[in-house]
Amino acid sequence: MKKLLFIGDVVGRAGCTFLEENLPRLRREYGADITVVNGENSAQGNGITRQSAESILSAGADLITTGNHAFRRWDSYDIYEERWIIRPANYPGGAPGHGYTVMDMGTYSVAFMNIMGTAFMEPLDNPFTAADNILRKLSTPCIFVDFHAEATSEKKAMGFYLDGKVTGVFGTHTHVQTADETILPGGTAYITDTGMTGPEYSCLGVEIQSAVNKQRLHLPARFKEAEGKCFLCGVFVEFDEKTGKSNKIDRLIIR
Ligand SMILES: [Fe+2]
Ligand SMILES: [Fe+2]
Repeated sequence: MKKLLFIGDVVGRAGCTFLEENLPRLRREYGADITVVNGENSAQGNGITRQSAESILSAGADLITTGNHAFRRWDSYDIYEERWIIRPANYPGGAPGHGYTVMDMGTYSVAFMNIMGTAFMEPLDNPFTAADNILRKLSTPCIFVDFHAEATSEKKAMGFYLDGKVTGVFGTHTHVQTADETILPGGTAYITDTGMTGPEYSCLGVEIQSAVNKQRLHLPARFKEAEGKCFLCGVFVEFDEKTGKSNKIDRLIIR
């Protein structure tokens, strides 16, 4: 059995710091073979920069996934030339970077893909077709998916669509952890959303008063980063590297 840690959207400098303080210990305690972190909101002011990515890597991530904020920082697109970061695969051809990667683990290999939902999000290519297109290119049975999407309905559908074809489907983007972690009938570990890593008393990582003003008054708002005590949300998965089936998924919330 092999072990994977997946950590949900790390938000801002506070989230990066909390990750640096806690991830090394978590990796040791869980004996993680692979650690993957969603970093789409890790930069100060949102998006991801080389500096915030390096903070996530120094905390112990082997791979960083992203989402709809992947390309928010136009001066940081060069990071997508690196092997340790992927962006949603269903962006149009010509967008920087790659939508999946295959990690060589010595005696086995693990593929990880990043796909974005299209319900209440940008009208990218069909996410189910995008997943199929990547699956056709892979030869390893160990395949994980970060499905970065808004609608629980679209995420559940993706989970069941990929059940038996991949090792795990982890939802990201809503920043709110769901309590539906399960092993689907075909052996795929699934959770609708892994949650976020950053200040707990916040609106998805945003400072509360600026978020309330935006929702209440519908005026353009400059979001401030929240402060205060952080939490870390994610999942721990155990899988058989020969069959690519999962036998355990646990939710993590570290305060
Ligand atoms: Fe996010
Ligand atoms: Fe997002």
